[in-house]
Amino acid sequence: MPILTKDTLEFISRSPEQTCRLGARLGRYLNGSEVVAMEGGLGAGKTVFAQGVGMGWGATSRLVSPTYVLIRPHKRHQDALILYHIDLYRLNSFSEVDMLGLDEILGDPGAVCLVEWPDRHASLIPGEHLWVHLRVLDEYRRSLVFRARGGHHQAILEDFRQELLGN
Ligand SMILES: Nc1ncnc2c1ncn2[C@@H]1O[C@H](COP(=O)(O)OP(=O)(O)OP(=O)(O)O)[C@@H](O)[C@H]1O
Ligand SMILES: [Mg+2]
Repeated sequence: MPILTKDTLEFISRSPEQTCRLGARLGRYLNGSEVVAMEGGLGAGKTVFAQGVGMGWGATSRLVSPTYVLIRPHKRHQDALILYHIDLYRLNSFSEVDMLGLDEILGDPGAVCLVEWPDRHASLIPGEHLWVHLRVLDEYRRSLVFRARGGHHQAILEDFRQELLGN
């Protein structure tokens, strides 16, 4: 049941499948330059959501937990865009940021970035983004709060909201 305010949307998911489907719906709107920051503790559902996004976007490879690999790139058939699945949990220093080229990737028109643990290095997240805050409510229920910053991401959130409302 979506709850509405201007730039935010809250959704309660009742299963991993539902979280995945929600991600898949969002994934269809990602056509370059988007940064989707997924905040939430262990087991909140960040990777489940990201897997759905990858499916909806059309990734040719399945998204897996990026643990130990800070960035995993994925392609799709229809264009040259790259979806980067990024995990900032174990990012330790700004030399790693340079090494990984994170500054160039985040917000790049040719890239879609899904970021787990964005709150660990929030200064890396560009001003224009879609922030998804996932919270565990109980064993199977998760709250997902979406907050958009910047016109492009706000427009995506608006389309996503309309779709969820069935308009
Ligand atoms: N409604 C739900 N949505 C998503 N996951 C759920 C839900 N209900 C139960 N789960 C379970 O919660 C776990 C979520 O795992 P996931 O790897 O997505 O978490 P994460 O936020 O990426 O954690 P980590 O920080 O450890 O990577 C899975 O085991 C999944 O089956
Ligand atoms: Mg994860």
